[in-house]
This record gives sequence, C-alpha cells and structure tokens, in this order.
Amino acid sequence: MHLHDTLITLIRPFYAINDPAHQLDHAIEVMTESIQLAGSANREGAGVRLSEVAAAAAFHDILVSNGREHHHLDGYNLLMDGGPFSILFTDILCKDYDIRPEPVAHAVLEHRASYDGEYYSAVSEIVSSADRGRPNLLKVFQRTMANDYNGKISSPVVTGDIRKKWGKGGYARYPALYQRHYAAELSAMQDTIADPYKMEIMYEAAVSII
Ligand SMILES: [Fe+2]
Ligand SMILES: [Fe+2]
Repeated sequence: MHLHDTLITLIRPFYAINDPAHQLDHAIEVMTESIQLAGSANREGAGVRLSEVAAAAAFHDILVSNGREHHHLDGYNLLMDGGPFSILFTDILCKDYDIRPEPVAHAVLEHRASYDGEYYSAVSEIVSSADRGRPNLLKVFQRTMANDYNGKISSPVVTGDIRKKWGKGGYARYPALYQRHYAAELSAMQDTIADPYKMEIMYEAAVSII
C-alpha cells in the first residue's frame, strides 16, 4: 500500500474521536502543507525524508481526544512506549517505508506553538509550521472570537487583540522556516492589521460568517 493510504488507515480511528477542529481533514491539511514546506526546506539543503514528514504530520494530533494540554506528549508516548501501537509503528510502518521513529515522534512532541526548545530535527520545524496554516486573517479573526469571546465582542477589542498578537512586533512567534516560506503573506497580513479601515471590513466579514 502507498504510504499515504497506510497512514490514513492507521490514524482514521484516532481522529474520529477528536474534537471538531481536530478531525481527519485537519491531519490531511497538515500533511499536504508539510510536504510543500519540506520541498522548500530541501531546496535550502535540509535533506529531510518526505516519508518522515508525512508520518509526523499524520500523527501530530493523534491523541487530542485525551486532552489538548498534553496531547503532544501522549502522541509521542504512543509512538515510542513499546506498546501495541508503538510496535505497529516501528516494526511495520518504519521498516516498510524507511522511516526513522525518532524524528517522527519528536515532531509530534514539539509541534505546539508554545514549544520554545530546540527542534530535534527539521521534521519538527516543518510540521509545527504547517500546523499554523498559511497566514489567513479571516481565520485569525474567527479563532480570536471563538476562543476568547464566544463570538460576542466588539470590533475595537477584537482588532486590538489581533494587533497585539499578530501585528508587526506582536507577540505571536513563528518558526524561522515559517517566516521565510510565508514572508510575503505574513507581511501582507500585517499591513492589513495596521489599517483600521480594512480591519473593520474584516471584522464585519468574520461576524457575518460565524
Ligand atoms: Fe496539536
Ligand atoms: Fe494540529
């Protein structure tokens, strides 16, 4: 079986019991974006194996159903603890597809935006970058409103929060690879964030489709 199909078969039952934001479509999106980023990283000389990138992206949110706070650690343990799934992963998947378990498991462990240590390998930086998604201001609005205010908050507060976090000099942190790969989109998003008139239009758009 092709690696992609094998991965989907393995992860499908796990993602099926995750929350709506972490279903199989999220894993597939991160796999697709990760492969593109890996191409970009390899052109810079990273020398990553696409099979490891695909596997890490597939597994990165595999245990969100256990709880968001520790899902990265649970995912890492599932792949490395010597239990039945770990054996399936290392003895079958890794041998069949020339995947090393360590870069894959560490990418799962290190994928969260809050991770501030050194990356074990380029696979970790790629999956963490892909998990953020392309710079998308409408999604930033939706996420800010949904996470922090249940969609019931005025435009000045939301746009102020977005400016502080995602605007130029904001406190949101991106992996270096993300900043290089999405430089043009990031800069365009930050220009819009700096423009109050455009931000008002984005706010209205976000409210209308919630
Ligand atoms: Fe995650
Ligand atoms: Fe994710």
